[in-house]
Amino acid sequence: MHFLLYASSLACAIGTSYGQIFVPAEVQQYAMQALDTFSEYVHYDGPSLTEILKPKPTQKVNIAAAADCSYWMESITHQGVAAFNSNPSSYKVFRNVKDFGAKGDGVTDDTAAINSAISSGGRCAPGSCASTTTTPAVVYFPAGTYLVSSSIISYYYTQIIGNPKCMPTLRATSGFTNAAGTIGVIDGDPYGSNGKLQLGGATNVFWRQIRNLIIDTTLVPVSSSISGVHWPTGQATSLQNIVFRMNSAANTQHVGIFIEEGSGGFMNDLVFTGGKLGLNVGNQQFTMRNLTFNGVSTAINQIWDWGWTYQNININNCSVGVDLTSGGASAQTVGSITFFDSSITNTPIGFKTVRDSNSQPNTAGSLILENIKLSNVPTAVQGANGPLLSGVSSISAWGQGHSYTPDGPNQFAGSITANTRPSNLLQSDGKYYQRSKPQYETLPLSSFVSARTLGAKGDGKTDDTSALQGAINQAKSQGKVLFVDHGDYLVTNTIYIPAGSKIVGEAYSVILSSGSYFNDMSNPKPVVQLGKSGEAGSIEWSDMIVSTQGQQKGAVLFEYNLVAPAGTPSGLWDVHSRIGGFAGSNLQNANCPKTPGTTITSSNLNQNCISGYMTMHITKSAAGLYLENVWLWVADHDVEDPALSQITIYAGRGLLDESANGPVWLVGTAVEHHARYEYQFALAKNVFGGQIQTETAYYQPNPNAKIPFPVVNSIYDPTFTPPTVTDNNTAIPAANGWGLRIFNSSSILTYGVGLYSFFDNYSTACSAQGNGTRCQSRILSMEGSSGVSVYNLNTVGTHWPITVDGTDVAKWQDNQDAFVESVALFRV
Ligand SMILES: *[C@@H]1O[C@H](CO)[C@@H](O)[C@H](O)[C@H]1NC(C)=O
Ligand SMILES: *[C@@H]1O[C@H](CO)[C@@H](O)[C@H](O)[C@H]1NC(C)=O
Ligand SMILES: *[C@@H]1O[C@H](CO)[C@@H](O)[C@H](O)[C@H]1NC(C)=O
Ligand SMILES: *[C@@H]1O[C@H](CO)[C@@H](O)[C@H](O)[C@H]1NC(C)=O
Ligand SMILES: *[C@@H]1O[C@H](CO)[C@@H](O)[C@H](O)[C@H]1NC(C)=O
Ligand SMILES: *[C@@H]1O[C@H](CO)[C@@H](O)[C@H](O)[C@H]1NC(C)=O
Repeated sequence: MHFLLYASSLACAIGTSYGQIFVPAEVQQYAMQALDTFSEYVHYDGPSLTEILKPKPTQKVNIAAAADCSYWMESITHQGVAAFNSNPSSYKVFRNVKDFGAKGDGVTDDTAAINSAISSGGRCAPGSCASTTTTPAVVYFPAGTYLVSSSIISYYYTQIIGNPKCMPTLRATSGFTNAAGTIGVIDGDPYGSNGKLQLGGATNVFWRQIRNLIIDTTLVPVSSSISGVHWPTGQATSLQNIVFRMNSAANTQHVGIFIEEGSGGFMNDLVFTGGKLGLNVGNQQFTMRNLTFNGVSTAINQIWDWGWTYQNININNCSVGVDLTSGGASAQTVGSITFFDSSITNTPIGFKTVRDSNSQPNTAGSLILENIKLSNVPTAVQGANGPLLSGVSSISAWGQGHSYTPDGPNQFAGSITANTRPSNLLQSDGKYYQRSKPQYETLPLSSFVSARTLGAKGDGKTDDTSALQGAINQAKSQGKVLFVDHGDYLVTNTIYIPAGSKIVGEAYSVILSSGSYFNDMSNPKPVVQLGKSGEAGSIEWSDMIVSTQGQQKGAVLFEYNLVAPAGTPSGLWDVHSRIGGFAGSNLQNANCPKTPGTTITSSNLNQNCISGYMTMHITKSAAGLYLENVWLWVADHDVEDPALSQITIYAGRGLLDESANGPVWLVGTAVEHHARYEYQFALAKNVFGGQIQTETAYYQPNPNAKIPFPVVNSIYDPTFTPPTVTDNNTAIPAANGWGLRIFNSSSILTYGVGLYSFFDNYSTACSAQGNGTRCQSRILSMEGSSGVSVYNLNTVGTHWPITVDGTDVAKWQDNQDAFVESVALFRV
């Protein structure tokens, strides 16, 4: 396998077209030298590589299809514009590391060149800038092997992208050293001399990616605890398609990914080989899908968390699969883990836990396992005093923690009934359907058209409605992929995306709604309409953001109507919404400062800061929508402000799913700071959600969720009466927005749910650990619904974490897990 990887990156380096080519002598020589270098640590018993590739100078060599490394993103005309940069005409969004002097020849030290590709152009450097959206960058790696001797430092809003067809290798030299404060081959947020992460707090690091790389630390001595990637991060971030090759010699200390804090986030399609720890990770929450660990000592070491969703994980030849013993039985730091559709092979211990009925905190160490195949795993679950589950070849479902089914709490540890999975949510192997973000590496450049080439300006000021619509229509009619070059595309009317469209942005190209068309609260309009009602077919869309500019009282940012055929759902990958808090929004600190000192009513509320009627609407007749890594955010702070000042923006509703039969998949999604609710399922059916995460608006209950958007019955708006409830002689806000409301719905299956209420009128005193008042009374409402299953619910600042048909079912003090309240299993 290692051999094949190298052989194909080599082939990429020496040929650029299909089929038979003549290899010039000097290229052959380079190739042979390179292969000789590789063979030092490639375990390959066949004929010597030099022998294989030793043609006479005129001999034809069949490099075959692998020789074609051409990738559209590398060769397309680079016209990305950072519209709100101080110098948009000269600022470069796209950077090819080779244009900055990186050689990628496996010999030259490329550290400085790569870091210069990232840092040039007055970008948001850790240490001197907390965050900004005005200096986005794509840092592109063509095929090659790039030697690095110290960390590559990734900046805010940076997409590090390798050629997916011929994955480039970032290889740490044997003498690799972490410069002061840095950790890892790629450091996503170094430490300053003050001992703090240098970007504006890990939970505020948004909108960035790394994909298509081989990160190779095999040359680094085993005594080094080098990490492949250091990634303390917030939402709308992703790592995709990365191979971590670690030194596997005895006593290796190598780590694949190190995360110590943040509020993630999503990762998928990662492979780890060798090393001590594949993942060494702590963060509030994360969703990780399709990870493979081969021959790592401990595949996953969980440092701490509230909730973590692991989907389709394959662990082979490790010593321990997942270690959640951090802190020990008396002070567990791992809140909960949900782990499913996975396999573990040739590994003595699957899961290691110290949780039992006496461990502390009370509900920490919650664990749910579902649909796991085991082969040669003597102990599936190891407890503090011996095996809890052993000698099994599969786990239908198993768990430990507190359950409410729907009454509780019941303390449980053992087999549970697996969820009844609706067939339209599944692939043929019985796992939940999954699909990674398409990167279109098999399509030639001629299959792409550029929105900017077709006349859209994306300059944040020109009305691009007709140009962007024209580009979408043209791409669709020609069967091409629309590349929306980085920019801010101002639109004053609905943009319609027909079935069959494939659209890909660049470092999150932005569609910015503006004007009176979207400003009527009694006549809401979609900004982006995905199919007309009843329209059959599906679309693919990735790497973009839908936003609003100024007051937009009637804007529905996404309206999904398509009826996708079975097996071919529409997909949105890294498509986010962002309302306020960024340059160009006209909803920044200067416009919409927080006002906790003033009691806000309908008459004094700042009308200019009402923007967004609803963020995403999946309509009744719609079917087949797959969301992966989608963050629907109403800004709580101004990202451009060095102080990250908090702001108050009013947006009506988060995600409403009314799809009568689904299927809808919410893989790694989050919805934050809307007024009436974050997620609402109304008369909906057949939903997979994991991890789903919310935050209540920080200003609530000043004002509460009832204003400024009046109840609309046709969209099943929740009503809130009375505004407070009293428990133990204390009044608690009862008209804060719902984190999750499930109304007259069925077969809603969630694998990891985090519903957070940190604030009361901008004060966090209410969410302080142990404060029994809490910030809001209720956050999860189940009404008239059945077939609902919630695995690992974690709430913050909530007095009653679960409410069923108006009855409060779970109390916070019964489910304490340090800062959060945790319920491992809830079913109605
Ligand atoms: C999982 O990731 C591998 C690459 O690591 C990829 O080849 C495969 O298609 C992915 N599978 C799924 C189901 O996403
Ligand atoms: C696991 O180890 C076995 C025995 O050494 C080997 O045959 C197999 O290929 C390994 N599996 C993986 C995925 O590395
Ligand atoms: C909000 O909090 C501030 C103190 O931070 C207080 O003065 C004000 O009265 C509060 N307003 C409401 C409506 O709770
Ligand atoms: C009720 O309030 C009192 C006084 O604040 C507090 O000591 C007690 O723990 C509370 N009881 C419950 C069940 O929250
Ligand atoms: C919700 O379900 C209840 C109970 O079945 C029913 O009375 C009510 O009409 C339903 N509401 C809607 C809007 O369908
Ligand atoms: C508990 O939260 C309430 C509501 O926000 C607040 O008034 C109170 O001061 C908090 N108590 C402590 C000890 O922080």
